[in-house]
Amino acid sequence: MKKRKFVFGITIFVMISIFLFSCQKQDKSSLSKKVEDLLAQMTLEEKIGQMTQVAIQVVSKTQGAVDQIHELDQAKLEEAIIKYHVGSILSVWDIGHSVDYWQEVITRIQDVATKKTRLGIPIIYGIDAIHGVNYTKGSTIFPQSIAMAATWNPELVRKEGEITACEMRDSGIPWNFNPVLGLGRQPLWPRLFETYGEDVYLASLMGAKYVKGLQGNDISNPEKVAACAKHYVGYSFPLSGKDRSPAWIPDRMLRELFLPPFKSAIDAGAATVMVNSSEVNGIPVHSSYYLLTEVLRNELGFEGFVVSDWADINQLHLREKVAPTQKEAVRLAVMAGIDMSMVPMDFSFYNILLELVNEGLVPIWRIDEAVSRILKVKFELGLFKNPYPNKKLKKKFACDEFKKVNLQAAREAITLLKNDDELLPLSKDKKIFVTGPAANSLSVLNSGWTITWQGDREDLYPKNKKTILQAVENKAGAKNVTYLPGVTFDREINIDAAVKTARNSDVAIVCIGERPYCETLGNIDDLTMTQPQLKLAKAIEETGVPVVLVLVEGRPRIINGIVDDADAILMAYLPGMEGGSAVADVLFGDFNPCGKLPITYPGYTNSLMCYDYKNSEISKINDYDAQFPFGYGLSYTKFEYSDLKLDKAEINESDELNVQVTVKNTGEITGKEVVQLYLSDLFASVTPSVKRLKRFSKILLEPGETKTVEFTLFKDDLSFIGRDNKPFVEPGEFEITIADLKEKFELR
Ligand code: BGC
Repeated sequence: MKKRKFVFGITIFVMISIFLFSCQKQDKSSLSKKVEDLLAQMTLEEKIGQMTQVAIQVVSKTQGAVDQIHELDQAKLEEAIIKYHVGSILSVWDIGHSVDYWQEVITRIQDVATKKTRLGIPIIYGIDAIHGVNYTKGSTIFPQSIAMAATWNPELVRKEGEITACEMRDSGIPWNFNPVLGLGRQPLWPRLFETYGEDVYLASLMGAKYVKGLQGNDISNPEKVAACAKHYVGYSFPLSGKDRSPAWIPDRMLRELFLPPFKSAIDAGAATVMVNSSEVNGIPVHSSYYLLTEVLRNELGFEGFVVSDWADINQLHLREKVAPTQKEAVRLAVMAGIDMSMVPMDFSFYNILLELVNEGLVPIWRIDEAVSRILKVKFELGLFKNPYPNKKLKKKFACDEFKKVNLQAAREAITLLKNDDELLPLSKDKKIFVTGPAANSLSVLNSGWTITWQGDREDLYPKNKKTILQAVENKAGAKNVTYLPGVTFDREINIDAAVKTARNSDVAIVCIGERPYCETLGNIDDLTMTQPQLKLAKAIEETGVPVVLVLVEGRPRIINGIVDDADAILMAYLPGMEGGSAVADVLFGDFNPCGKLPITYPGYTNSLMCYDYKNSEISKINDYDAQFPFGYGLSYTKFEYSDLKLDKAEINESDELNVQVTVKNTGEITGKEVVQLYLSDLFASVTPSVKRLKRFSKILLEPGETKTVEFTLFKDDLSFIGRDNKPFVEPGEFEITIADLKEKFELR
């Protein structure tokens, strides 16, 4: 009887699967048919227009100063869409606007595109909603991605994507230039905070979750938007640490580390990809047929469209110097595989490409290919059916539920790096001194991509969100809290007064970090925390009053001179609009910290190793001397690990390896722990890393509670990029490490 039920169940399952598969196939073929039919009606000019993306300034009366009131210019808008047939408009006037304002702007743009042009092809509007819809006033602004990675909670990242998509569609914007999938392995790089950290497994997982959150399974859903996996590939690893500068990444390393997060986002359905502004191994990626076509299309299987980054096709001529003319730059880029040019300030791309096709220098098949990909995404987004803002979403915009998720993300990100003598959590009746340039600022908690590009206009931030100081006052009562800034990020103000005040307090909370910045304007020459801030921290530490350092920074600024004398250290990263509240929740024990570093926190400026270093990178006199290692983070409770067990001591390639470990909360409060599984390939024909993260699981344990966590590893988890630059699974001995437990197994 049981067996018959089972067979019946399986039959139904198979039938449903076949049905769904054939629906999908039909959908795909009817989509291709729609694209083909439309393409067949288009003139060459209309096609090239689709490949052209201009900034909103091009169709505006104003050019983008923060304090201007911005307005579309109807004549310019019609010129762009009707005369030049542009297919896409992007970005902002570098200032956040209300949802109503956005709705009006998008409606006017789509009115021209759909009602005043021959074929009525809608515009795909794109924006950088990097940590929430950061250019829409009052939206839900999350921690930056580096902090989201520190939660080690993929579900929170998925929800961030979901909420961002919902608030974008409310404004009528269907395309997000995010996630950033470069690995954060160069701590000087000013865009480190936009990444999910240094590890390939963590970043691949988080990136895919974010894409799923933004896109769901169907981007025609009026609450979903198209993702843009960027910046393909190698942008995050500039040798000099300066933004938009050369990376040198051998093919094996590219495949081992830098391609997998893109592969993972593509498998999750990412609709578009944006290109690395700079060069890899001497070849600007905007001109690399190898990377943009052979690898991205043929190997990674990407089927969406590729957009250039800001003005980067022209840069092939102007900056990179691989094209002697702008015309050659356009030819190179289009033939390498770029489908849409973020021109963005004029119609030069349109004019030049038209000329190139008319002269036979770019074949029409390449134009048809690019335009088909763009139209396909527009159809998939449902823009042909309804290109207008989804006004029904207004009631969800920045709702309490979204705020709750945001607060939870900020709390789970915060990483406790030191807590001597259990200084934290603080009791609320202490006399507290708060100091440092990061203490009373919302812009510092959010940094770039917040309201403005640089995120530094404190006066434009919402008045109902709390700085760290305000949140601390809220908990401990304003009368128990004294505040003096002590220093700015690069200037002393009143260190002596701060020292005096500290002496009269029970505890000093020293909030230091980085001023807001974005992209190239965040370049630095020295990873060390700025001198005035170090001086302030040192002076307060010398008073003997217990010190809590709170680090508010997008990259790990070197602090080795002030670590030993700090009693407690909290890494807040860039925790977003709820960050002040979250920091206070952790300081006073209203939330038990559970973040873990998604990067290595280096101890020295010239020792910038990642955790998965090679055996030869350490020696008798140098070690992985991180200030705090990757994966590290304390809790107010204690966890004990035991009974690491593998179900087999020897496996074949086709076997699964089941791993289990027991974790107990031996402390007195409830806490979340991230159980991290690392794999070491002990000997391999390509020098192995000492260890690599392969799995993790974040679990909640009540005091005294024990849980057994299980993981399964497959063949692919054991593979590496071999001597021939192809994935390779090599027999030999491996070791699993979870916390301080280790077990070996053999692959036969
Ligand atoms: C950045 C991209 C961004 C684009 C559009 C560029 O400067 O590199 O990440 O998506 O501008 O704003």
